[in-house]
Amino acid sequence: MLKVNENYLKLPGSYLFSAIGKKVSAYGAAHPEKRIIRLGIGDVTQPLVPAVTEALHGAVEEMGKAETFRGYAPDLGYEFLRRAIAEGDYKALGCDIAEDEIFVSDGAKCDSGNIQEIFALDNRVAVCDPVYPVYVDSNVMAGRAGTYDSKREVWSNILYMPCTEDNGFVPELPREVPDLIYLCFPNNPTGSAVTRAQLQEWVDYANKVGAVILYDAAYEAYISESDVPHSIYECEGARTCAIELRSFSKNAGFTGLRLGFTVVPKELERGGTALHSLWARRHGTKYNGAPYIVQRAGEAVYSKAGREQLKEQIDYYKKNAAYILHGLREAGYKVYGGVNSPYVWLKTPKGMSSWEFFDCLLENVNVVGTPGSGFGPSGEGYFRLTAFGSYENTVEAVDRMKVLSL
Ligand code: MLT
Repeated sequence: MLKVNENYLKLPGSYLFSAIGKKVSAYGAAHPEKRIIRLGIGDVTQPLVPAVTEALHGAVEEMGKAETFRGYAPDLGYEFLRRAIAEGDYKALGCDIAEDEIFVSDGAKCDSGNIQEIFALDNRVAVCDPVYPVYVDSNVMAGRAGTYDSKREVWSNILYMPCTEDNGFVPELPREVPDLIYLCFPNNPTGSAVTRAQLQEWVDYANKVGAVILYDAAYEAYISESDVPHSIYECEGARTCAIELRSFSKNAGFTGLRLGFTVVPKELERGGTALHSLWARRHGTKYNGAPYIVQRAGEAVYSKAGREQLKEQIDYYKKNAAYILHGLREAGYKVYGGVNSPYVWLKTPKGMSSWEFFDCLLENVNVVGTPGSGFGPSGEGYFRLTAFGSYENTVEAVDRMKVLSL
């Protein structure tokens, strides 16, 4: 008789952002007169920049003519895009990443969920706590997480590395040695960042113990401080211990277009096997590439016009982050992040739990954020707001939150 993958049955509740979406829809249906401001999921609101839409139009025209039509994309992605990435994202930082170490995909969410497939099930996984839920849930689905302790809200085989006010929301090296380490900086959800020296410690540690770091740099475009690295390959030795995941969602507004990439250096080997060849095999077998028109749009992100236009777009969201950070701080909230990141992380007032504060904001001022506990046990008592709304909505949301007496 057919059996389902029982690992899926172990997952508690639904995906965090689906659960929030349902709650907000129910509230909206019951109170149609209220204007709800959504600063929950980190979804962009500003339109694609002209350099990108022009590239899309051009590529659509090409697809409509026999002489320029394209079918399946090459396994790793089109060379024109991988070249633009290698030069624009790596060479420009002095990082030695070759075009054929870049695997183009339809986004970092898929890559961060899929990458665990190339590792054995008995590997020990370490995650920050709080953490982007995809890292944990994809390991649960694979059967690597063990059993769930619903009281403590932790999995028996996952090593949680608490990120708290005390450590500036940057984890300490784990007490037990992990095999796979998920790191995301600038961090989702806390908005914290690591300095180059701090990240170098992680790279040295991983090389020493033989672990692999899965480094999610989806938010690097929001870095403002010069000692914060944009890529893990700015650290010496990262080529032998780190895989980097990147996204076009937050730096170019592609959440609805879908484009990302993963970098697997050729030197990265474990047990005599190059991880590059495993990921290439996985990519070639299970994936047929991001659409040609989207890859052309991605290339335009690196053009002179694209860079200038996107700098303006990122500055727009950064202004929102600053408004949230300073506005809430002045109002008496304890707030973090928001400087190198589009996320602001705040302590819930009056000792409210994260979900109590979620309900309080939704019901009293019609503002939606994300409860910190949805990202892990150390997120309890915290709340995340995103800077990806419009400026007007951001200002109104903060002003509405100011009137809640703390
Ligand atoms: C978030 O809100 O954490 C992100 O938008 C989720 C994602 O990028 O998949």
